[in-house]
Amino acid sequence: MDSFVFNTAPSIVSGCGSALRLSEQCAALGVKRPLLVTDPGLVAIGLIQPVSKALAEAGLTPVLFDQVREDPPEETVLQAVQLGRAEEVDGVLAVGGGSSMDVAKLAAALLAGNQSLQQLYGVDQLRGGRLPLILVPTTAGTGSEVTPVAVITTGETTKAGVSSATLLPDVAVLDADLTLGLPPAVTAMTGVDAMVHAIEAYTSRHKKNPLSDNLARRALQLLATNIRTAVHDGGNREVRGNMLLGAMLAGQAFANAPVAAVHALAYPLGGHYHIPHGLSNSLVLPSVLEFNAPQAGGLYAELADIVVGRSVAGSNEAKTAALIDALRQLIDDVSLPATLREAKVAESDLEMLARDAMLQQRLLINNPRDVSYEDALSIYTAAY
Ligand SMILES: NC(=O)c1ccc[n+]([C@@H]2O[C@H](COP(=O)([O-])OP(=O)(O)OC[C@H]3O[C@@H](n4cnc5c(N)ncnc54)[C@H](O)[C@@H]3O)[C@@H](O)[C@H]2O)c1
Ligand SMILES: [Fe+2]
Repeated sequence: MDSFVFNTAPSIVSGCGSALRLSEQCAALGVKRPLLVTDPGLVAIGLIQPVSKALAEAGLTPVLFDQVREDPPEETVLQAVQLGRAEEVDGVLAVGGGSSMDVAKLAAALLAGNQSLQQLYGVDQLRGGRLPLILVPTTAGTGSEVTPVAVITTGETTKAGVSSATLLPDVAVLDADLTLGLPPAVTAMTGVDAMVHAIEAYTSRHKKNPLSDNLARRALQLLATNIRTAVHDGGNREVRGNMLLGAMLAGQAFANAPVAAVHALAYPLGGHYHIPHGLSNSLVLPSVLEFNAPQAGGLYAELADIVVGRSVAGSNEAKTAALIDALRQLIDDVSLPATLREAKVAESDLEMLARDAMLQQRLLINNPRDVSYEDALSIYTAAY
């Protein structure tokens, strides 16, 4: 039989309006004074106030930390911890995208233990526990609500990850109502990020397993079928719910069968050009798949029908080509730029990007095909 390990959050609560009933999860965890971690944009559009009001009406005293920046730097984590310590919070609750959820995860760990943030980077470096943790995504993208990972910007152009099962939350809460106002461009980028999680989990070299495979396939089907409507008719609740579910399932898949070269080549674009995470992935996705096809073609062929939306006939090569064409069409349909040139990347930077991508060995080892510096450069060149 297959031998594998699969971990996810112990409890997942899904339903429209569930973010207004977070007091129930807090009560179950014994939390009375949670640190509510979010970003200033979400406060400005009025998304957070109903959540904190509902908590207050249930007798809780949430402490608001609304200073999360996109691709959060270490400083943001430390500020959250400082506030949480000063206010003597007894739990951490994030309502936001991957940036807010990742800050909340690390704050929950740092508030409970005596390690420094520096000591947590890498795999399984976190000792001890964390405060009770509830994660509520407002983007349908990272799947961070069910991953053991937090990603932090550590320098001008670099990011580092903390990976520990302790960072899985006690509860992930999916409420599509929170995502109804997600702007079209953010919907498109974060949605493609989630699709990449599913595709890369399905072809992950070492830890791919029957659970991650099924999750990846179902996630990809939900995301590919709903992303266009989510972008062009954002108020559609059913479609938003499907996107949120798809992103979460993809998160469960890649939390156990990790992502690879698409993410490895995307990270330097975020670092050097501040291109958002999902768009960085989208820009290199077709070229990485073309590069991987000789090794991963059989698996890509299995995904073709799902993304194309009908049964694709022919050889594995033909099916893989149809998958890549369908992804290119999808990226165009959701109005994302198709090339690095359109995204204003300088052609003279491609060698530097390739050198940086080679630093992402943690991800590259999961790729179905070995990637050398020359390969990375030729993928960027193809994507230009
Ligand atoms: N922990 C993980 O497993 C994991 C996986 C992938 C990526 N990440 C990290 O997650 C971060 C990216 O997260 P993200 O893509 O969710 O974006 P984000 O959290 O950075 O948010 C992007 C923007 O969208 C806005 N926004 C979010 N929800 C909204 C809503 N409902 N309505 C209107 N505006 C909204 C935010 O205010 C922000 O301006 C990066 O730092 C990335 O490295 C983490
Ligand atoms: Fe991602």
